[in-house]
Amino acid sequence: MRRPIIAGNWKMYKTTAEARALVSALVTTLQDEERVEVVVCPPFTALSTVAPLLAGTRIALGAQDVHWEDEGAFTGAVSPRMLVDLGCRYVIIGHSERRAYFAETDETVNRKTRAVLAHGLVPIVCVGESLAQREAGQTRFFVTGQVRAGLAALGEKARTIVIAYEPIWAIGTGHSATGKDAAEVIGLIRETLAEMDGRDTAEAIRSLYGGSVKPENSKEFMTSPGIDGALVGGASLKAESFVPIVRYYA
Ligand code: 13P
Repeated sequence: MRRPIIAGNWKMYKTTAEARALVSALVTTLQDEERVEVVVCPPFTALSTVAPLLAGTRIALGAQDVHWEDEGAFTGAVSPRMLVDLGCRYVIIGHSERRAYFAETDETVNRKTRAVLAHGLVPIVCVGESLAQREAGQTRFFVTGQVRAGLAALGEKARTIVIAYEPIWAIGTGHSATGKDAAEVIGLIRETLAEMDGRDTAEAIRSLYGGSVKPENSKEFMTSPGIDGALVGGASLKAESFVPIVRYYA
């Protein structure tokens, strides 16, 4: 049985005081949550503020990006070692916003994924097609290409990764994919992983849907075959909208 995950990607939102307030509310409300793994991914600047609030709770801490080197002259970057040091357990890698605005490629995604696995962190690797690619019938080709290149040669730790299928056209637009569409692409991703790493590993990997997930539509994804949870953007910024998404599993 794959344990469901609901992860909140806060993106570039929240000062330390705002982060503290949100995490305190989540800890109070979700302290008894057992069935689902809850992850919050604040900006780097708030990680050390919220880490002590999450210590000993059922909510895990994640970062939104990472560099692949342990240390070095990489101005502005943060290493896997630094994230481990802060108590992070998860790292989002290859989000479409990082690919679009910060020149992230499948090659850097692969380097980062291998680096965080080596440090015992869990990568949440994002893939997903643009609207133009979907309309041109290239979803299959494009997403499997991202999986093959971004997740190449992960070795035996491959089974611990998490994949987030986030169609770009559904992110922040209010137009989510349908559960059926998301399940279809996630099924395809799992088949690709089975070809790469074997059936056992592919069945162990957890796959999330992301893109305009809200309390009103979350059920559609959670009940679709092969979808193991959600990567939530906007709705993760308030306890009132994030908690009901988690509670679906309660
Ligand atoms: P929204 O939920 O705001 O559409 O964002 C999704 C996302 O990008 C999560 O990583």
